[in-house]
Amino acid sequence: MAKAVPDVVLPNGRKMPIIGLGTYKSSPEEMKTVLSTALECGYRHIDAAYLYQNEGAIGKVLKEWLDSGRITREELFITTKLPAIANRAADVARFMDKQLKLLQLDYVDLYLIHSPVGLKGKDDDDVWALDDKGNIVLDLETDLESLYKAMEELVDCGKAKAIGLSNFNSKQIERILNVCRIKPSNLQVEVHAYHQQKALREICSKHKIPICAYAPIAAPYRDQGPILLENPTVTSIAKRLGKTPGQILIRFLVQLGIAVIPKSSNVKRIQQNFQVFDFTLSPEDMAALDGLDKGEKGRLFIFEDVFKGFSKHPEYPFHIPV
Ligand SMILES: NC(=O)c1ccc[n+]([C@@H]2O[C@H](COP(=O)([O-])OP(=O)(O)OC[C@H]3O[C@@H](n4cnc5c(N)ncnc54)[C@H](OP(=O)(O)O)[C@@H]3O)[C@@H](O)[C@H]2O)c1
Repeated sequence: MAKAVPDVVLPNGRKMPIIGLGTYKSSPEEMKTVLSTALECGYRHIDAAYLYQNEGAIGKVLKEWLDSGRITREELFITTKLPAIANRAADVARFMDKQLKLLQLDYVDLYLIHSPVGLKGKDDDDVWALDDKGNIVLDLETDLESLYKAMEELVDCGKAKAIGLSNFNSKQIERILNVCRIKPSNLQVEVHAYHQQKALREICSKHKIPICAYAPIAAPYRDQGPILLENPTVTSIAKRLGKTPGQILIRFLVQLGIAVIPKSSNVKRIQQNFQVFDFTLSPEDMAALDGLDKGEKGRLFIFEDVFKGFSKHPEYPFHIPV
């Protein structure tokens, strides 16, 4: 029986559990242990993506759990994302079908445009879209408005219960709001104590678009400046409350009402990251964590490290601060 986890209510009325499991860099080989551990702990929200090349492994575990009756489809909240190599209206339905087949599902709960930047892969497996010289191949004709309209058709046919955006800036979000028939149900962006996205959160709150925080503990790139998990404010609160720094960082966002999708492939950390509902951070602790915000300087994901040349695309979102 899953523990009671608060939900974030999406604009379409459907509920997304406030904590989900991130799956970027979880290998297909380790997925059985990772996902089974998470489901046993009570995670019901899983964050996937075609880019992560592990949807097939996720699908196998989900099928085992569903077939055995240990879980029902209605209890799960599965998010996945359209890859940048398919950022064209004509590719959306095909990729949704491909991803549903990998996940062994009839529908996903949330389908996101992974990035406003479009790429041209040699084929559907070429998710990094690099040419023979290792240079990224950009699709300079990305048309976000027509792309989003194709996403809306997935809601019409029931293959996605909700659709949304990821890594879009406020101007791009407003462009979608100007043309949409079905409002984006979610914006997935980097949010953590060093990069709190206060301005973007306020804009989304005005438009009633809930945010899901990726990289909530800011741990993926340990060589990019000070490590949030080792920040003395974080470690001293953790020590005083008898919690781990990771739990403090996750609780901070959850207490702000922001959905989080921490990734771990480590059994103990998967369990710990979910145990954030048996304590509360005091207003003083919340204020201290709020004070760690570095604004734009705290951003980790500029994508140039994995997608060299990404920022040359006309829709690269981080050329403007919000
Ligand atoms: N939409 C997007 O463009 C986008 C971009 C990035 C991420 N995401 C999604 O968001 C998820 C989370 O982001 P992320 O994976 O980049 O970053 P993250 O969840 O902030 O950090 C993951 C890293 O932290 C380690 N870790 C996990 N829990 C820990 C703890 N309690 N204490 C210490 N270290 C811990 C993990 O290692 P171990 O595995 O060894 O525990 C892993 O190296 C991704 O998996 C993905 O689903 C989306």
